[in-house]
Amino acid sequence: HPVSVIVVAAGSGTRLGAGVPKAFAEVAGEPMLTRALRAITGMRGEVRTVVVVPTQLLQTAADFALRAGLDRDSVAVVEGGATRQASVAAGLSAVDPASDVVLVHDAARALTPAAVFDRVVAEVRASGAGVVPALPVIDTIKRVDAGGRVLGQVDRSQLAAAQTPQGFPLMPLIDAYSAVDGEHTDDASLFAAAGRPVRTVQGDALAFKITTPADLARAEGVVAGNGE
Ligand code: CTP
Ligand code: MG
Repeated sequence: HPVSVIVVAAGSGTRLGAGVPKAFAEVAGEPMLTRALRAITGMRGEVRTVVVVPTQLLQTAADFALRAGLDRDSVAVVEGGATRQASVAAGLSAVDPASDVVLVHDAARALTPAAVFDRVVAEVRASGAGVVPALPVIDTIKRVDAGGRVLGQVDRSQLAAAQTPQGFPLMPLIDAYSAVDGEHTDDASLFAAAGRPVRTVQGDALAFKITTPADLARAEGVVAGNGE
């Protein structure tokens, strides 16, 4: 069975403030979306891609997919929604139903290596669970109240920072999306709310999300070979 990868790129990028929807902003001369799509060309096995973008950028996104090296027949481009969750739902409706596994990836994690995608797919197939690439939390985390008072410390060994691509068996994810009530911060949380198990695999520092201008500068440093 092929893997389907939904790349969500329909956000506006308010915090980055680049003047264009974030996924279309450039990192060292190449749009985030093109970089994210190029990683997919490095995956093992048969892969189909659904790119979710703002309506005025459907054609631009199709051009980026070709430039990234994806085959025209393996890519669908669809219009996103008002929230990330609505954009994923739009992507799911365009997924090849022959896929056994679907990955959902943020275009804003533009430098994520292909190996992370492969690791997530392998774990979904091995476990049947939802799978999140995650990294240990490095900072000491405090629980605080609204007034800023420290209430206590959170046991860091029980924490993991979640990244994308997150992977799922296709039909259970479609069922979870059709049953969902309210907004979830990521797909794994929505999947878990439907009563399904979720596991982690090792994430990658390069899968960080580009959110602010400082993140963009970090990404440009990585591409230039200075960072990480
Ligand atoms: N996303 C989407 N549709 C939305 C909102 C977000 O497809 N309605 C995508 C973004 O394009 C991004 C990913 O979800 O690849 C993660 O979202 P985020 O980093 O919050 O991006 P933006 O929503 O674009 O940024 P901001 O919140 O600063 O406006
Ligand atoms: Mg957002």
